[in-house]
Amino acid sequence: MEGREGDGGSEKSAFRWLNAARFAVAAVVIVLIVVVIVNAIKVVLRPDTLRLSVVGGSVYSTPLPADQAAVALDLTLRAENPSGRVRMYFLNITIYLFNNTTPASTSKPFDDSIIAFQAVDEVVAQQMSADSACKVEATNDDMTSPYFDMLYAKRDIITDVTMRVDGKIVTEVRSGINRTNLAMFYCWPLFVGGYPGDEASNSWPDVPCTHMPGSQSNE
Ligand SMILES: *[C@@H]1O[C@H](CO)[C@@H](O)[C@H](O)[C@H]1NC(C)=O
Ligand SMILES: *[C@@H]1O[C@H](CO)[C@@H](O)[C@H](O)[C@H]1NC(C)=O
Ligand SMILES: *[C@@H]1O[C@H](CO)[C@@H](O)[C@H](O)[C@H]1NC(C)=O
Repeated sequence: MEGREGDGGSEKSAFRWLNAARFAVAAVVIVLIVVVIVNAIKVVLRPDTLRLSVVGGSVYSTPLPADQAAVALDLTLRAENPSGRVRMYFLNITIYLFNNTTPASTSKPFDDSIIAFQAVDEVVAQQMSADSACKVEATNDDMTSPYFDMLYAKRDIITDVTMRVDGKIVTEVRSGINRTNLAMFYCWPLFVGGYPGDEASNSWPDVPCTHMPGSQSNE
């Protein structure tokens, strides 16, 4: 049967191949168009999110001379807004510090962290960055032992610390419409200890924080 088709058969099969190639090209073009449209929609609906970093990669600690022994912890949290169109707010910020044996993703961050504290809200204009000084005065009760002793009495440096930052990112999508995302960032590795004025500490590079996508809600 096949033999009788002769040259006509190979023409037909060449024609089929051409059609198949056309289909393949059309499919690739359609996929590309869909990818471009989806990305365009994403850009419009979901602008870049806030970027955080810890200036100098350090949380500085200063023992406070007082009736009750305490250490002051200080860090500078830098928030950058990569968007040219929308203003961003970072609200209800909680900072947790974890040692290198505790996963920062724990569901009980308050219990499992070395220390937890609140930071002040940040407002970041389009394509600007804002530095926020985060401070807490911690006593032996606020901090898991042996870390209080390390920072207060021994003046040691705790290395390889992960900072978790929980908060709400509010984005002004259009005037009059706010989008709210729960956000979680991990900043690692940080030093805890040292002096704010310390030359050596000041030369450490900033540590960028990784954004872990959280649940989302619209207001
Ligand atoms: C603020 O953050 C804390 C700790 O993450 C959370 O328990 C609390 O519900 C938050 N408050 C608001 C108003 O979102
Ligand atoms: C790390 O932190 C956890 C929780 O605070 C604590 O139980 C654990 O003993 C610490 N690990 C080390 C090696 O200090
Ligand atoms: C958006 O959220 C910010 C921060 O909470 C608030 O100041 C502003 O008024 C809100 N805008 C609208 C339109 O709700």
